[in-house]
Amino acid sequence: MTAPQAPVPTAQTPALARRLVIAVDGPAASGKGTLARRLARHYGLPHLDTGLLYRMVALAMLDAGLRLDDAEAAAATAAGFDQGAFEEARLRGRAIGEAASVVAAIPEVRQALIARQRDFAAAGPGAVLDGRDIGTVICPQATVKLFVTASPEIRAERRHRELAGRGETTPYAAILDDIRRRDARDSGRGTAPLRMADDAVLLDTSALGIEEAFAAARAIVEGRRAA
Ligand code: DC
Repeated sequence: MTAPQAPVPTAQTPALARRLVIAVDGPAASGKGTLARRLARHYGLPHLDTGLLYRMVALAMLDAGLRLDDAEAAAATAAGFDQGAFEEARLRGRAIGEAASVVAAIPEVRQALIARQRDFAAAGPGAVLDGRDIGTVICPQATVKLFVTASPEIRAERRHRELAGRGETTPYAAILDDIRRRDARDSGRGTAPLRMADDAVLLDTSALGIEEAFAAARAIVEGRRAA
């Protein structure tokens, strides 16, 4: 007697049809990371904060005494770093955010990080990824694309509170300057600039608390899944 064969999955089988990939893009401190984490928990999906990858490259370069504008060294670093080797508190610091934005403008760095991100999105029942180019470049076929934004002043207030909570005291005006500079660099670079995908849904969180923003994000996901 032959053992029963498992059905070969096709695009029509429910398991694959239900695969859910959520792309969450937006500028620095827009709340996209918190929303992506909450969506991932809600739908039982793994979450990748892709900004951390750029932060890892920047931190590895700084620790090795390399110049951030050395494109060859940056590409080599991006091609072979160990994601488990970094302390999250250091990665999340203000200076590393700025440094990450510098290395993220190097096309070879972006190229070297594509496979890690796409592999993550392609595994298991789906995934939530947040960043700047998830809906446009990394996962153009994502089930749902959110573009999360808020005014620069509101984002600076949030980042100010977040950094203060971690003991990093920086004047609000300096953080607002950081945010404006990063917006300009991330949106103005030639490769994979921060841009809302044509089929993304805009979620402006300027006037929303976290629970309201999360409810709005869930409603967008449910609307897209139903469609
Ligand atoms: O999301 P974050 O603030 O941790 O990102 C740090 C920097 O990394 C950001 O200023 C630009 C860059 N980045 C990017 O270019 N593409 C991504 N998908 C994620 C981050």
